[in-house]
Amino acid sequence: MLLSGKEPSQSLKDSVREKSKLFEQKFSRKPCLAVVFAGNNPASAVYVRNKKKACEECQIDHLDINLEEDISREELIGKVEELNRDEKVDGILVQLPLPKHLNETEIISCIAPEKDVDGFTNYNLGCLLSEEKGLVSCTPKGILYILDYYGIETSGKNICVMGRSRIVGKPIAALLTQKSRNATVTLCHSKTENAEFYLKNADIVICAIGKAHAVTEEMVKEDAVVIDVGINRVPDASKKSGYALQGDFCYSREDGGKLSVTPVPGGVGLMTVASLMENTLISACRRMGIEVEEL
Ligand code: GUN
Repeated sequence: MLLSGKEPSQSLKDSVREKSKLFEQKFSRKPCLAVVFAGNNPASAVYVRNKKKACEECQIDHLDINLEEDISREELIGKVEELNRDEKVDGILVQLPLPKHLNETEIISCIAPEKDVDGFTNYNLGCLLSEEKGLVSCTPKGILYILDYYGIETSGKNICVMGRSRIVGKPIAALLTQKSRNATVTLCHSKTENAEFYLKNADIVICAIGKAHAVTEEMVKEDAVVIDVGINRVPDASKKSGYALQGDFCYSREDGGKLSVTPVPGGVGLMTVASLMENTLISACRRMGIEVEEL
């Protein structure tokens, strides 16, 4: 079967919208997300547009900060610090990748942890590892939401995570091993020997490599759950844009057959955006001294 992201992301956004309305009634302002986009990476431009559209759906204000490709390190840090101080800004999102001359880790570390709605700062990653209250990065959070939505149990299951990025691979591995999830996780990467062995043993496979069709259906159990995080652009002359989107996972039957697969597009990507909306609301509430549940 296909594990579409459409219904779960809509349900999450609907819930955020209702709570944002309550937030506005209570505090006479909307939650506000600052979206920082430096340069003009075409894929990033699409993601940024989708994030702003989701803000509008969820009654969340967005403050658009578009910066030149050649912005200096000092100017960008100055901008982030200005947003840190800005009382009306609840969340700061710096779209990655940044232009090549900028050090992403350094720029991210300048974001105030309480406004770090991407959950990328060392503080929030530390909260994740120590199972303390913080902001959890959006794609891992979206993956958990989609598993829960379709009633997929993780306790006691073997889960193979492909890819060790700071954005997806490492945080999702940490989340799935928490006491609330109880999975046994193998984190594979480009230097893993015999990845085929771990893949074949996995009840759930999470593909977060960023390479089109790097994992194929022959490599996984016939009834595996496959969460495909990859959104890869491959040349396709039949498309007006000249490219098609492909996931990291390659399967033959359109409906997945015995597999349960998240489609690309229309799967995890939608969940990432919906989780960003939820994080912005969480951050707005905490900045006002309450939790979302108290709205
Ligand atoms: N680039 C690709 N994914 C993401 C994401 O989740 N957040 C940000 N800020 N940039 C990204």
